[in-house]
Amino acid sequence: EIFKNSQQASEIVALEIAELIRSRQAKNKLCILGLATGSSPVKVYEELVRMHKEEGLSFNNVVTFNLDEYYPMTKENNQSYHYFMHQHLFNHIDISPENINIPDGTVAIQNLNQYCVDYETKIKKAGGLDFQLLGIGRTGHVGFNEPGSHINSGTRIITLDHITRVDASSDFNGIDNVPKRAITMGVSTILASKRIVLMAWGQNKAEIIKRTVQGDINSEVPATFLQNHTNTTFVLDQSAASEL
Ligand code: GLP
Repeated sequence: EIFKNSQQASEIVALEIAELIRSRQAKNKLCILGLATGSSPVKVYEELVRMHKEEGLSFNNVVTFNLDEYYPMTKENNQSYHYFMHQHLFNHIDISPENINIPDGTVAIQNLNQYCVDYETKIKKAGGLDFQLLGIGRTGHVGFNEPGSHINSGTRIITLDHITRVDASSDFNGIDNVPKRAITMGVSTILASKRIVLMAWGQNKAEIIKRTVQGDINSEVPATFLQNHTNTTFVLDQSAASEL
């Protein structure tokens, strides 16, 4: 779906999430959301906060699982995804803190494999993701599933692609300060979601969007695996869609 601009598109995505939350509330059920960071979802979170404040949208039945976190990374660091999510969403809504799950960038390296297995188990025990919000990196990563990520991959630690670190370097005041690794949900974790919405804005995403939507499905562009998911929508502005 191609929209005139990211504002309009984000309002539609936020509305879908709000309707999902309300429909689960009506049945007294939890709503399990997979959330993303980066600039792409910012306006969706703004709109959800607005709906909470102005329309009484409650998040009391919402459980969230974030896609990824840099490693190593403290929660207080203002470049952490933990910080980002609280600043843009969690500090402004009525979600219970125990319902928020973000990969923990402080777990000791020797405990990481078990930590990732447990993150995966927690998602499954919650009933699986009802909805997964995604952005896309210029390498074709979703979450931090960089080129080479297997379709069956689960939550794990990965090495960031050079292009991804270049793209993050302005946030970190230079590439040398960008962590070399991250914890990410896997491709299979994402594909198990009942509904997926990937958002991309701007000309610098146009090429990777074309390769993702029209290219061969393979791990060189991990986002191409979404082509086989039966309930995925790409929500684009005109610039991101300009090479399709
Ligand atoms: C980071 C995140 C991704 C995100 C990507 C794109 O690498 N790990 O989940 O999709 O950035 O970021 P942006 O939305 O700022 O373009």
